[in-house]
Amino acid sequence: MKWHQTNALVTGGTRGIGRALVDLLVEKGAAVIATGRTSASVDQARQACPQVNWLVFDQSDENQRAELLAHVQGRGVNLLIHNAGVQQLHDFTLKDETLHFSTELETAINFVGPVELTRGMLPHMRDQADARVVFVTSGLALAPKRSSPVYCANKAGLRSFAKSLRAQLRHANLPIGVTEALPPLVDTDMTKGRGRGKISPQAAASQIVRGIESGKSEIYVGASALLRVISRISPALAEAIMINR
Ligand SMILES: NC(=O)c1ccc[n+]([C@@H]2O[C@H](COP(=O)([O-])OP(=O)(O)OC[C@H]3O[C@@H](n4cnc5c(N)ncnc54)[C@H](OP(=O)(O)O)[C@@H]3O)[C@@H](O)[C@H]2O)c1
Repeated sequence: MKWHQTNALVTGGTRGIGRALVDLLVEKGAAVIATGRTSASVDQARQACPQVNWLVFDQSDENQRAELLAHVQGRGVNLLIHNAGVQQLHDFTLKDETLHFSTELETAINFVGPVELTRGMLPHMRDQADARVVFVTSGLALAPKRSSPVYCANKAGLRSFAKSLRAQLRHANLPIGVTEALPPLVDTDMTKGRGRGKISPQAAASQIVRGIESGKSEIYVGASALLRVISRISPALAEAIMINR
């Protein structure tokens, strides 16, 4: 990846891992378009990082996906990083579970959004040099935890989609790389107040960017690398380790 010739589009760039990715890409010399869901967070990010082209974008919304595609047309995007995501806790055993997020909405954000945005972006990317689509999934795509079943299923689904997409692009001889990045627990708003042994968003972003630089298909960030080894030796053990996290 030649960073000075990189035009990146990063979803969910206003906070957490996405923001650390944006900062690092800018530092490396890439031109960056980045999105956030709310205008408040986008305004804040724009003030802190004015060299980025910031856009408000809700990826669960079909119309907003079409608007984003229209906006990036002709801008030579050759690096698409699907980072935006949400994680909701659900207990399906509770009779009166009040979901503040429907499973449809959670799935639209975490799975349908990146898949459909990829579909729309591929025609723009197929003639770009060094083109690459990156999916930020999770170590939980390897083995789920009990407390967020929809999120884990969404991430495992996105992992599976990335594998098929990679094979389709190879089969069609289209020179667009596909990378899946699997972070472990990272210290962001998503994990506020829970979990131990978190790594910083900057540490996660730097491993992801290094993996993109080397053209890796899969980037096992931090402890996800150990989880991958365990899941290869014993999927049952990996599941036992993760299920009550
Ligand atoms: N944190 C972890 O431990 C961890 C571990 C493994 C994988 N991941 C994955 O890494 C990615 C980033 O996570 P994070 O912890 O950095 O998240 P975060 O701090 O909660 O930030 C989420 C980002 O996504 C945006 N976003 C939220 N809903 C959206 C929607 N409907 N459409 C478009 N953008 C939306 C947010 O925009 P606003 O600022 O406007 O709300 C924000 O920029 C996610 O895909 C997550 O699943 C995280």
